[in-house]
Amino acid sequence: MRHFTSITQLGDLQKAIEAAEYVKKNPFADQDKGKNMTLLMIFFNSSLRTRLSTQKAAMNLGMNVMVLDVNQGAWKLETERGVVMDGDKPEHLLEAIPVMGTCCDVIGVRAFANLTDRDYDYNEMIINQFIKYSGKPVFSMEAATRHPLQTFADLITIEEYKKVEKPKIVMTWAPHPKALPQAVPNSFAEGINMTDYEFVITHPHGYELDPAFTGRAIIEYDQKKAFEGADFIYAKNWSAWSGENYGKVLSTDRDWTVDSGKMALTNNAYFMHCLPVRRNMIVTDDVIESPQSIVIPQAANRVVSAQTILKMILSDM
Ligand code: CP
Repeated sequence: MRHFTSITQLGDLQKAIEAAEYVKKNPFADQDKGKNMTLLMIFFNSSLRTRLSTQKAAMNLGMNVMVLDVNQGAWKLETERGVVMDGDKPEHLLEAIPVMGTCCDVIGVRAFANLTDRDYDYNEMIINQFIKYSGKPVFSMEAATRHPLQTFADLITIEEYKKVEKPKIVMTWAPHPKALPQAVPNSFAEGINMTDYEFVITHPHGYELDPAFTGRAIIEYDQKKAFEGADFIYAKNWSAWSGENYGKVLSTDRDWTVDSGKMALTNNAYFMHCLPVRRNMIVTDDVIESPQSIVIPQAANRVVSAQTILKMILSDM
C-alpha cells in the first residue's frame, strides 16, 4: 500500500485485523523497519489522539517524527489556484508540498472539510494535492470526507469486544453546538459495510449522509427503535450533507442525547465515540462513565491502527 486515505484500501479486512492483533501483542517487533526514515505529520486542524497515537506508532517502528502545525508557527498556506495572494497567506500549498516532500519519507495529513463547498470537500482537494505533488507516500489523519485511522481502530475495538459473530451496530447522530464534518460517520459506515454485521444508522430528518458511504445500512429515524437489541452504540454528531443545507446545524435537540434510558433498550450494548466528546450533549455522564463505555480502549487502539498502517506503507516502499 503506497497511500492510505480510505479503509476500503485495506482490501481483506480480516487479514488487516490479524495484522493489528500482531502489532498490539508485539509493539516493538519492527523497530528496524522505520530506521533512518522520517514521518512528517502535517496538521491543518487541531488534534489530541491522532497526534499522540500516530507519533507513538512511528516511534514504535523506529521512525523519526516531525510535526508541522500549519497556521501556527509555519507560514499560512493558500490552497486555491488562481488566487491573487495579497492577503495574509504568504505561501502557496503548491510550493510548500514539494518542499515538505524533500524533508521526509512518509507524510500524514490532517485537513478537515471547510463545510462551505461540498464539491471542493468531497473531491478531497488538499490531501489529493499532497499525493500528487509530494512524491512521498501519504496517509490521512482525517481528511474532508474520511477518517480511516479512526475507523480501523473502531473495527479493531469491535472485534475485541463483540460477543456474537454478527453484532448489531447502531451509529446514532447526537446533538452538538457547532457544525462538524461528516468524515467520521462516512468512514465508520464505509468500514462497517466491509463486514457482515447488522448495521443501522439513526438520525433526525435532514441529516442523511451520502449514500455512497452508508450503502447497505438501514436508516431508522426513530432513535429508540434503532437502539433495540443493539450490541454497540456508536455516537457521533455531523452536520447536514444534503443539498443547500450542506454543512449546516439543523438541530441541537437534546432528545437525541445518548442516555441510560436509551441504553437500557439495547442488548447491554457497548458505548463508543471517537472523542473528543461533549458530555451531556452527545452522551450523558453516567453512560460515558459506565462499565459499558469503551471509549478509552477505543482511543488506545489508535496507536495499533496507526502502527499497522505505517508498517504496511513502510513494507511497500
Ligand atoms: N478521534 C480523533 O481523531 O481525535 P483527535 O481529533 O483528538 O485527533
